[in-house]
Parts: sequence; structure tokens; C-alpha cells
Amino acid sequence: MKKQKSIVYRCGNCSHEEPKWLGRCPECGEWNTLLESAVLSASGSPRGSSALSEAVVHSLPLSSVDPHEGSRVSSGIGELDRVLGGGVMKRSAVLFGGEPGIGKSTLLLQVAAACGTKGRVLYVSGEESAGQVRMRADRLGISGERIELFCSGRLEEIQRILEAVKPVLVVVDSVQTLHSPEAGLVPGTVNQMKYCCHELISWVKERDAALFLVAHVTKDGVIAGPKTLEHMVDTVLYFEQNDADSRFLRATKNRFGSVDEIGIFTMGEKGLQPVDDPSSLFLVRREGDLPPGVATAAVLEGSRVLLVEIQALAVPAKGAMSRVFSDRIDSARVSRVAATLEKHLKLRLSAHDLYVNVAGGIRIAEVGVELALAAALHSARTGLPLPPRTALAGELSLAGEARPVRRFSARVKAARGLGFETFIGPRASRRDDGDAESSEPFTQAPDLRSAIRILFGTERTTGSGADD
Ligand code: TYD
Ligand code: MG
Repeated sequence: MKKQKSIVYRCGNCSHEEPKWLGRCPECGEWNTLLESAVLSASGSPRGSSALSEAVVHSLPLSSVDPHEGSRVSSGIGELDRVLGGGVMKRSAVLFGGEPGIGKSTLLLQVAAACGTKGRVLYVSGEESAGQVRMRADRLGISGERIELFCSGRLEEIQRILEAVKPVLVVVDSVQTLHSPEAGLVPGTVNQMKYCCHELISWVKERDAALFLVAHVTKDGVIAGPKTLEHMVDTVLYFEQNDADSRFLRATKNRFGSVDEIGIFTMGEKGLQPVDDPSSLFLVRREGDLPPGVATAAVLEGSRVLLVEIQALAVPAKGAMSRVFSDRIDSARVSRVAATLEKHLKLRLSAHDLYVNVAGGIRIAEVGVELALAAALHSARTGLPLPPRTALAGELSLAGEARPVRRFSARVKAARGLGFETFIGPRASRRDDGDAESSEPFTQAPDLRSAIRILFGTERTTGSGADD
């Protein structure tokens, strides 16, 4: 049967095909995603349906699938491995987003040099010249023997290089520079980017390779471009700048691990260095008494315990209504804890504007911060400082009870390790905790009232095993 070329219009988003061009894909509803593409078909049969029916396709029993097909390798950078869920998964695609200048190229060049894979690494740079990449490598002390460098954003050229080099790790820096005439005439469009990424992802999925796709994300975070790639990749990582030199790496999507872990780095002379003792970033070392309004919380960030300094300030309200200014801890949480203090300790806060901050600029979304937040607010309002070397963890109910939090003993232990002598928290950790750590002595506070009394009053209640 004579084969002939016919034209179909394929959606760049969901691969749905239409015989005619349409402004909107009837399958996924995306606009302007249909692109012309040629298919070989037997004459007379539209869209190659008979060619497809002749092809051998088969399913297979789930039990026969090799679970190690996509096994992991270390990226060579522990903090990145942690965020990925224990290393880079082969046959996976990772979207690596962040603002320009945050250090994406730096970190991925470090990964290219350090990753534990056997085989070659291909670094595709569409943004910088070979000389510029080499200069960065020199600065980082990377000799780059196993790194193949290719400076172009043209998809067809990259595909040819992929076939020639057969790398096990591919870094594409950045998706915004990818282009192909197959994806329409205008370079730099979202469709171009999606088409090129789709092709590159398909390549690594069929081989034992992993792909990092760098994406620039602008300040507002509204990512018309890279956001549309998120459904195509296995993992989405965002690199954010914290205060000064520190950077946080978070996963917002992870098919092979949790999205709770953060990686913490500092940018220095020799590139990005993992921070081994993250609490050092979030604690302020002080000699002698603490200023009022400061309390230390032991919170969970993924699998790690962090000790963070919570700072509060209460000033008479400037307007008719008092307001909460807090961007590191959710304002609704601050308002709720303030209301709980007001109700159960008769501490009048509603005529005050409340400002809350976390030292080191980390955002805290974990419930265990609430007891320390209450202590900081109380201290800010009364002007009474907390005793030094004291840390807290606990959730607060609206009834003013201190509720148990996950991995309580681990928090106490971490605080002790950092020199905190007193740890105040609720009775015990939850039964479903999985908290294998031996129970650590702490000062028990079953409710907010007793916690405040322990901190600022004379009366003390002690939990199982006194804290000294
Ligand atoms: P870069 O990796 O180019 O950012 P991105 O790819 O996300 O746009 O990082 C650029 C910044 O990092 C630049 O301001 C210089 C700084 N930097 C260092 O401080 N130390 C280093 O070792 C390197 C390589 C860069
Ligand atoms: Mg860059």
C-alpha cells in the first residue's frame, strides 16, 4: 500500500490530534497549542490509524515490572539528594526553577561535576558561551573531564549531540532558550518551549538518563512559561533566596519523594555550599538576658528539626483596627494565637498592632511553632523577657491547651544539642508518632497558662524526668 504524508494538528500540551487546526484543544482546553505535524499514513486512511493498528503493542503484568528500573544515583550534593527524596532518579525529568542570578547554573554545574553516575554528563547552555561556563567551572574548582559542554538552544542540534554523547545526566540551561522550527515559526513562545521539553523528556525516558531543565522564574512568581511544563516533569524544584547569602531549595511536586524537605545552601566564593547546621542561620547568639519579644521554637522542616528564633513586637494600634504584620508565619495563625492569649490569659492584645518575624527569614508553616509564638507575643506585650537558653514546641488549641506535636523527643534532643537547657512542651508526643527516639527530659506544660507561668512566673511544673 502506498504511504503518503498527511497533516494533523497535535496539541503541544496533551498530544491530542485533530485533523483541522483549532484555536483551542478540545481535549485539554488549552489555547493555541495545536501545532501542525506530519504523519505517514496508508493512503486513504486518515491520521495513520491503519499504520497504528499494524504496530505491535502489548501490556504486561504489573508484577513483572522491574521496580529498580528507575533507580537513584546521588547528585553528589547531599542537600539536593534530600529534596529529591534520596538522590536523582534515572529516567526522570526535574524542572529547576528560580529567579535569574539565584544560582541555578552554579548548582547544576556543581551537580554535573559531583554526581555519582558512571557515564558522561552533558551540559547544554543556551545562555552562556563555552568560555563563560569554563570560567564559572574554574571558579568552582571543577576540572570538568566528564562534562561535555554544548552551547546552543536549537533542539535538533541538541538531539544530535544526545545521540552522539549518550549522557547519563543532562542539564539544559535554560528552557527559555530552547527552540525548534518544528514548533512554529516564532522562537521563544511557550509552545516552542513545551515542544522542545517534551522531546527532551521523551529522550531521557527511553534511556537510563536523568534530565534537569533550568527555568527562569520572575519575581512575581507568575510563570506563564515554566509553569506550563510542570505537568510534564516528575519533579519540580524551586530555588529561593533567603536573607543575604542563604538559599532554600524546595520541591513543589515530587513523584519520587515528599515535598516537605528543604535544602539549605549558602552562596560563597566557591559556589553553593550545603549548610550542615541550619539552625545556625535562624538563631541569634546572645550573651546574658534576652530582649523582650523573643522566643525559640523547635520546628520540623521535612525530616529535620530546626531551632528558630521567633520575634514579636506589639505597639499601640495606629488605626481604628489593630493589624497583624507577619510574612514568615501565617497572619491567621498569629491572630489566632493572639486571641487565645487574650481569652485565656486576659492579656489585652486587640488594641495593638502585632509584628512577627523569624530570624534568618525562613517561613514557618508547622503547627509546633504555636507555643513559642504565644510566648514571644506575651513577652512583647508585657515587656518581660523569656529566660535564656529556653526552647518550646507545641500546638495550641482554641481552648488554650498545648497539644502534642510529632517527633517531640527529637525536638528536645536537637535543642539540647544546641545548648538549650530548658525545653517546654505538652505532655507527650502522639502515639502514631513513629518517634523511636528515647524520651528526653523536658518541662511539661499541658496548657498555655502553665507554659506562661513556667516562663514568666515562679510556679514550675515538671514532666516525666525533670529537665535538670
Ligand atoms: P548563577 O548560577 O549564574 O545564577 P542563575 O543561573 O540562577 O541565573 O549565579 C549567579 C550569581 O552567583 C552571581 O551573582 C555570582 C554568584 N556566584 C557566587 O557568589 N559564587 C560563585 O562561586 C559563583 C559561581 C557565582
Ligand atoms: Mg544561569
